[in-house]
Amino acid sequence: MHRFSKIVAAVGIAALGLASCGDDHAAGSSDGPQVNCPPPAPSPEAGTTSPADPVVMRAGSLINEGRQTFRFDTFGDEAFWGDALKLHQAIAASVTPRAALGVGLKVDVEALPPDLVAQLRAGQVDLDSTATTLALLQLDAVIGVKGVFNGSQLSSVGITCAVCHSTVDDSLAPGIGKRLDGWPNRDLNVGAIVNLSPDLSSVATLLGVPQSTLRQVLMSWGPGKFDAEVFMDGKALRPDNSPAATLIPPAFGLAGVNLHTWTGWGSVTHWNAFVANLEMHGKGTFYDPRLDDATQFPIAARERFGHVRSDPDLITPKLAALHFYQLALEAPKPPAATFDAAAATRGKTVFEGAAQCASCHVPPLFTEPGWNMHAASEIGIDDFQAQRAPDKRYRTSPLKGLFAHSKGGFYHDGRFATLMDVVNHYDSARSLKLTAAQKSDLVEYLKSL
Ligand code: HEC
Ligand code: HEC
Repeated sequence: MHRFSKIVAAVGIAALGLASCGDDHAAGSSDGPQVNCPPPAPSPEAGTTSPADPVVMRAGSLINEGRQTFRFDTFGDEAFWGDALKLHQAIAASVTPRAALGVGLKVDVEALPPDLVAQLRAGQVDLDSTATTLALLQLDAVIGVKGVFNGSQLSSVGITCAVCHSTVDDSLAPGIGKRLDGWPNRDLNVGAIVNLSPDLSSVATLLGVPQSTLRQVLMSWGPGKFDAEVFMDGKALRPDNSPAATLIPPAFGLAGVNLHTWTGWGSVTHWNAFVANLEMHGKGTFYDPRLDDATQFPIAARERFGHVRSDPDLITPKLAALHFYQLALEAPKPPAATFDAAAATRGKTVFEGAAQCASCHVPPLFTEPGWNMHAASEIGIDDFQAQRAPDKRYRTSPLKGLFAHSKGGFYHDGRFATLMDVVNHYDSARSLKLTAAQKSDLVEYLKSL
């Protein structure tokens, strides 16, 4: 609600900006563009009249609907996670809240009744009992995990976008707090969670490997990572034999950015449809004939992943609002105490000047307006991951809110542990010859974005 009212206010002010100077707010009543208008003062009426604007009302309802979808919609993927993988059996048998928090799952404190919150604060909740896990699932409190119950029996389970793309602020305890939608969950060990499933035969058959091999691959990913492409191309390892998984990217700060994912598969809504159908295994429709390339995507081409049709279609009707919600998620601002403001100001000059960062990371989007893709050689890295996507390039990452995903490192596979490592890489790969002072100022600037 809070975010909605802020948007209403912002849109209301923007509408005033269109009006001519003076008290007459009717757009088009002026003789021409008024260049010397003072910035419109937020009038008291703006807040009360604009919510009735049909465009603002539509924006509000799309955001509410999209947020529901992002947080709670499984698109019918219980048929995969429950019926096929039987993940619910493992949860009911062995996943205590301590184990769930241990693999990076998060608990939404706002979904808990006050007495349970009080008990948690007092350390009176048994975190070693699977019954507690089931109670949390029944409250819809485990972020991104939807339990299906038959009475008190967990009969199936599904996942939502939020499992990977939300975390919490740890306000009650580590892993328990208020939702932070769009923040990548860099604690989440997706591979370890999938590996809990008693029956991975359907996935092993898809990939054409024994279940034991699949389990090894899943356990190799580690926290904060997932491999969306392995189900298309079957490549579980990089040429150096390290895992081919990528970091979960932020799903905030995406408005104005043309292409998405590390390798620019498409727009936000392209990828939303891709992931809901092909990764979460929801029931929907997906069309992308680029996946018919049997050399690049042998599994996807064989399985006709670019031609998915389901009846009923539980995904397509949700895409508009989901897209709108994604675009409304702003990148969070770093707390002032987390960077040196004076050094950051100097670092901005380095970013836009000597270090040539802004030639690709164009402020304030910090990616290129237009076709934001680059060959691996332009950023001085190998092209393994780029070659796994249709464009065979890397997408210029938008840089706002970097502080919110520094865990797990930077670049698609987290190869650079710190921002200084990133800066040192560019310094040598692009022969920038930055001084030590320029480098540390640049890092402070990156931390301030
Ligand atoms: C299992 C974890 C997981 C789930 C569930 C998941 N994602 Fe993602 N998401 C990822 C990973 C990993 C990537 C990066 C993929 C790549 O680059 O190959 C990604 C990329 C994205 C991006 C691109 C962000 C950017 O950098 O431009 C968006 C948008 C996104 N996901 C939205 C969603 C939505 C919406 C859902 C639910 C329909 C969803 N994701 C479900 C893991 C997940
Ligand atoms: C030729 C275009 C280009 C230039 C110049 C460039 N970048 Fe990048 N940047 C990229 C691309 C492409 C990626 C994505 C790499 C990947 O996916 O592995 C990236 C990724 C990053 C990341 C990692 C973001 C994340 O989410 O992990 C940081 C930080 C970064 N760049 C900072 C800089 C700085 C600082 C400079 C200047 C020294 C700079 N970039 C210059 C294109 C560029």
